[in-house]
Amino acid sequence: MYGLEGQKAIVTGGAHGIGKAIAARLLAEGCDVGILDLDPAAAQATAATLSRTGGVVATAGADVSSAEQVAAAVATLRATLGPIDILVNNAGALKVGKMLETSEADWKMHFAVNVDGMFHMIRAIAPEMVTRRRGAIVNIASWMGKSGVASYGAYCASKFAIIGATQSLATELGEHGVRVNAVGPGLIVDTKMRDESEVKRKAEGLPDAYERAQAIPLRRPGFPDDIAKAVAFLASEEASYITGETISITGGLWND
Ligand SMILES: NC(=O)c1ccc[n+]([C@@H]2O[C@H](COP(=O)([O-])OP(=O)(O)OC[C@H]3O[C@@H](n4cnc5c(N)ncnc54)[C@H](O)[C@@H]3O)[C@@H](O)[C@H]2O)c1
Repeated sequence: MYGLEGQKAIVTGGAHGIGKAIAARLLAEGCDVGILDLDPAAAQATAATLSRTGGVVATAGADVSSAEQVAAAVATLRATLGPIDILVNNAGALKVGKMLETSEADWKMHFAVNVDGMFHMIRAIAPEMVTRRRGAIVNIASWMGKSGVASYGAYCASKFAIIGATQSLATELGEHGVRVNAVGPGLIVDTKMRDESEVKRKAEGLPDAYERAQAIPLRRPGFPDDIAKAVAFLASEEASYITGETISITGGLWND
């Protein structure tokens, strides 16, 4: 356990996949959790499942790419939870496609959700953390935020941007007692995004995630809880001297 009892956390994109596992882990660590998701019905269903384990789980529907929707959803969650100690920017979008075949709308969509979404959440929550001189922000980047990969150009560019923003913000907020870190997941199965991308790969006759995982030193794909454990650590006082970092959680070096 990481000593997070009584802390208040918001997880974006917490209705499914990695975000759901992060919400579950933070609850198990003693946090009250707010799930902010584009899909409010799924967020409520997830909250109903998770709240059986104890702790408060609040939900709010919002598209993180909209500053107005984020402001309203954060106000709703704050009304239930109170001041926020932990922000996990996990909501993300991916559309596979070669750079030269990517439409301007798809290019902008990656930045609107993955980068602007993080920016809006930080602007809604970090000022209060600065005032209270406490808080931890964890951004979910990707191993594709450290390596450019064919057919993932827009996604990679947006994830590189997350890592850059993480480093800049950590530099600005350190003196105010707020830490900012990121994690870079590798091949993580059992998520909606992964399932959708696997369907596309299968149609193209490409090997599935479990076959590709044989090239990973740890010889398995990752699971959402592999990411959730690292997020709980980074959010906790156990990581009190870590800021501006992006921890790769990939099972080691691997090829797509
Ligand atoms: N699955 C992987 O292999 C993998 C690898 C590296 C990084 N990631 C990153 O992890 C994060 C979670 O991905 P996942 O695989 O769990 O995906 P997922 O599709 O299972 O979950 C994403 C969640 O985000 C929500 N969401 C999407 N767009 C949103 C928006 N505009 N506003 C609010 N909520 C929105 C969805 O409703 C969903 O609940 C993403 O940032 C993704 O880029 C995933």
